Amino acid sequence: MTDLSTPLATSIAGVELSGPIVSAAGTGGTCTELADVLDLRCLGAVTTKSITAEPREGNQPYRVVDVPGGMLNAVGLTNKGVDAFIEQDAPRLAAQPTVFIGSIAGHSIDDYVKVAMAFEAVDSLPVVELNLSCPNSTSGRRFTDGPGELAEVIRAAREVLPTTKMLVKLPLLFETASTMASAAIEAGVDGLTMINTVPALSIDVETRRPRLGYGAGGLSGPAVHTPAVGMVRRVYEEVTRDAGVPIIGLGGVQAWEHAAAFILAGASAVGIGTTLFHSPAAPRRIGRGLARWVATNGCSSLSELIGQMDAG
Ligand SMILES: Cc1cc2nc3c(=O)[nH]c(=O)nc-3n(C[C@H](O)[C@H](O)[C@H](O)COP(=O)(O)O)c2cc1C
Repeated sequence: MTDLSTPLATSIAGVELSGPIVSAAGTGGTCTELADVLDLRCLGAVTTKSITAEPREGNQPYRVVDVPGGMLNAVGLTNKGVDAFIEQDAPRLAAQPTVFIGSIAGHSIDDYVKVAMAFEAVDSLPVVELNLSCPNSTSGRRFTDGPGELAEVIRAAREVLPTTKMLVKLPLLFETASTMASAAIEAGVDGLTMINTVPALSIDVETRRPRLGYGAGGLSGPAVHTPAVGMVRRVYEEVTRDAGVPIIGLGGVQAWEHAAAFILAGASAVGIGTTLFHSPAAPRRIGRGLARWVATNGCSSLSELIGQMDAG
């Protein structure tokens, strides 16, 4: 199945990955569709589309537009709902040559708990990721408004996830990044994924209307890379290095240098999203670059470079 003997092998909360590159939630179909365009062995893990308690149609078109430095999307968590996912998709996971991370979204704590309970019963989903930071759907609750809100949903999910490792996906935060990360860890997460898309707006100046059907959307791609690296570094230095909690660094990765920057900042694995749409060969290419980089640095394993930014 997966080769864990390579210099690129890493782990997230004790779950071994054959390499550090992880496909980002919502950018590779529901779960196994990426196998049509790339060899899944190039990915240490695949994150599923965020799955909700009930099926969701998503937002009206246009749902994605190009913008300078990346793309805007307001897909709106389109998905088939957890019951259909468990029936149609979950049985296919065990035969795949990679690890799967089950992404969960919702509008209430009960929503998260329902999907988490269903995922806990799937052996081939050893890790779940709570998406508490999607900017593209209206919600009665915003779980990232403060540490109290964040901790409440994490604690509820933790209770029904006795064996499955749990990550929380955070939005781009600056001053409050470490407070939120600490609250998440205290409430029981095993790792952090950062970042989600960044709230943004593109206006068609001819029609004077937003270019996305939903209005505002989430920015992803190269424009969010350096802010994401900055947040990973801050949280690593202030919280996770001492706590021993892994980070998946995510945002704007196009080349091995971007992945290496996340590793040096303190990430144990690196997500890739927008780039997959135009360059499905990127995970293989980035993996080759990282392997050369590890060797050039005189290291036998990528993990020796985690957090090793030289602050000068
Ligand atoms: C079209 C699209 C759909 C997305 N859907 C989800 C989703 O369902 N759940 C989620 O947690 N993040 C979702 N994201 C956010 C990505 O997982 C990722 O956090 C973000 O795009 C930044 O990474 P990137 O710059 O490599 O794309 C989506 C992003 C895009 C572009």
